[in-house]
Amino acid sequence: MEYRPLGRTGLQVSEIGYGAWGIGGSMWIGADEDESLAALHRAIELGVNVIDTARGYGESERIVGGVIREHPDVHVATKVPPKNGVWPAPSGIHADEAFPGEHIRASLETSLAASGLEAFDVLQLHVWSDEWVGQGDWLETVADLRQEGKIRFFGVSINDYQPENVLALVRSGAVDTVQVIYNAFHQRPEEQLLPACAEHGVGVIVRVALDEGGLTGRVTADSTFPDGDFRNRYFGGDRRAQVEQHVTALVDELGITTDELADVALRYVLDEPAVSTVIAGMRTVRNVERNAATSDGRRLTDAQREVVRRHRWERNFYQAPDAG
Ligand SMILES: NC(=O)c1ccc[n+]([C@@H]2O[C@H](COP(=O)([O-])OP(=O)(O)OC[C@H]3O[C@@H](n4cnc5c(N)ncnc54)[C@H](OP(=O)(O)O)[C@@H]3O)[C@@H](O)[C@H]2O)c1
Repeated sequence: MEYRPLGRTGLQVSEIGYGAWGIGGSMWIGADEDESLAALHRAIELGVNVIDTARGYGESERIVGGVIREHPDVHVATKVPPKNGVWPAPSGIHADEAFPGEHIRASLETSLAASGLEAFDVLQLHVWSDEWVGQGDWLETVADLRQEGKIRFFGVSINDYQPENVLALVRSGAVDTVQVIYNAFHQRPEEQLLPACAEHGVGVIVRVALDEGGLTGRVTADSTFPDGDFRNRYFGGDRRAQVEQHVTALVDELGITTDELADVALRYVLDEPAVSTVIAGMRTVRNVERNAATSDGRRLTDAQREVVRRHRWERNFYQAPDAG
């Protein structure tokens, strides 16, 4: 496993991190807790030292906390949900509606109790609107929580597919990390966000590098997901067929099998030096081992990178299928 600086925090984080949404049983259905625990333990054994969870991920904080108490050297990032429950943060909403200081504090206390941890390495706001720079009391609360030793660093998770909607915050110097969707299809963060984070020493935590499974070659026109699983909506309508079409075109041009696609997809985002860590969702030991193996210092060839660049496919699958 290779390690990179998490912006200016002084932490060195593993290139492959652990995305702990799927193991919480909230919107991803079918995770078996014993299997999730085995996957988490294997990830740590293989050098993964950063885990991303959230207050809103069902049992995830409890499961992660139980493992981390035995591994205090592993860094844990959690998130505060917006008080108004609105995802993603729309424009025109005051910071006090989404993240009043007292709400941030109360949510953190609940996360600490659920996880059994004394502090989190990173506390992230689960949505963000750049209009909130200079509004409300979130910044003072964050400073107080740091002072009290309950959090070490502060970050935000950027709204889906809005990588520019954080640039003012990045430039303000108030944030240590940003979490962003960045993958072989959604390449827009390369345009402004990644250069801005590199310039201002902000750590970049990449989420959804595998497009919720779309970039693993395992989503085809005939795929099914358990009842209640959010992927029924994400890959709803004719989207499974669209994904299969895009993936087939990409792997054909790369000259690889669909089974090799996840490896290329992870290497594509790791090619960007501004990226600190890629928090892959991986509930099985098999996927942990395959993903950890991509952090071997080898990079894509220029030709492979150019092929992936040509297969850029910007769209928003978090919106309902009939919304486009
Ligand atoms: N708004 C937010 O802040 C937000 C939103 C979304 C996600 N996140 C964070 O980002 C993390 C990553 O996103 P994600 O988990 O939603 O999606 P993801 O990492 O893009 O994809 C996860 C999917 O890929 C599969 N997979 C992983 N490695 C594989 C491999 N080598 N071969 C084949 N399949 C593989 C996983 O299967 P298994 O799980 O069955 O192993 C799972 O179905 C989350 O866990 C969460 O921590 C944050």
